[in-house]
Amino acid sequence: MPRLDILLARNLGISRSATTRLLRRGAVRDQDGAPLDDGRAQLPPSSLPRTVLVDDTSVVLHTRVDLVLHKPVGCITALRDDRHPTAFAHVRDAPLCGELRAIGRLDLDTSGLLLWTTDGTLLHRLTHPRWGVERQYHVALARPFSMPEELVLEDGHRPRLIELRELAHDDTHPALVPAPAAVCFASITIADGKFHEVRRIFAAAGSEVLSLCRIRFGVVTLDPQLAAGQWAPIDLRAHFPGIAPQDD
Ligand code: URA
Repeated sequence: MPRLDILLARNLGISRSATTRLLRRGAVRDQDGAPLDDGRAQLPPSSLPRTVLVDDTSVVLHTRVDLVLHKPVGCITALRDDRHPTAFAHVRDAPLCGELRAIGRLDLDTSGLLLWTTDGTLLHRLTHPRWGVERQYHVALARPFSMPEELVLEDGHRPRLIELRELAHDDTHPALVPAPAAVCFASITIADGKFHEVRRIFAAAGSEVLSLCRIRFGVVTLDPQLAAGQWAPIDLRAHFPGIAPQDD
């Protein structure tokens, strides 16, 4: 079971020794005012997230965090980068942000659904080819496409194409960034996450992706109300019961 001092350190983003000092000077109290000074006290997972007071300021103690970000175009899927803004900058205000990692990657110019988790095992499983988690994208294209009978990319990779269909512009997700030069639109679902995979698939089909948006990852779809750059909490264990580790 998680210990109070460890949870405080993780959620406040401070060292264990700084946490010990807080506890010793009586700065941590329960919501009803009762002092919490035993750092070794164990908090049952069912009691979390739990709100405590630290110097009279409410702090919610989380043991794990999952969230869904509507990634805008123009940022890369990285924690830090010298040249480009990062997707991480959009989740920096989330609880346990220092432990959050993106589940897979979206290109600099791709928008849409990007999941984050503090759970390394879940991250590994959701991105591992063995589980074949589906990713669905909407694309705006510069030219009509014609998918070859046998789809093999230039590096020999054979995409696991689940579904491909043309879309009317009106049926595209609102998060697909407008591309004035687009002549057609499509929805594509694949079960892998290889580098530039969707762009390379449409290049192999004689077209060019002008705008690309991920609208679904497994059973999680991008809420049209979630604005670009915003995130929302989600419980990924509930969404992926067969894949996610269920223990704490
Ligand atoms: N495929 C791509 O080409 N780019 C992405 O960002 C995601 C899938």
